[in-house]
Amino acid sequence: MIDLAICVGSACHIHGGTEMITLFQQGLKELELTEYVQLKGAFCQNNCQHAVCVSVGNRQYKQLTKDDVYPLLKRLKEELQWNT
Ligand code: FES
Repeated sequence: MIDLAICVGSACHIHGGTEMITLFQQGLKELELTEYVQLKGAFCQNNCQHAVCVSVGNRQYKQLTKDDVYPLLKRLKEELQWNT
């Protein structure tokens, strides 16, 4: 199981992090990733100037916008398929 943690600290919240949780939930369902990826909220990542911050496993993504959510999940799905 891969952890996908969305920062819900104040800076990331202001930049839409909390709303992104719904988009990630929808994308994970749509791409049938729910049994491989666990969605979590995270405290401030000390990277507020690069909000919204999301980590996937040990990878960090910065300055994510809502438009980045689906492509990120699609790439993740492709990587998972390569690794199985
Ligand atoms: S609030 Fe998200 S990195 Fe600080």
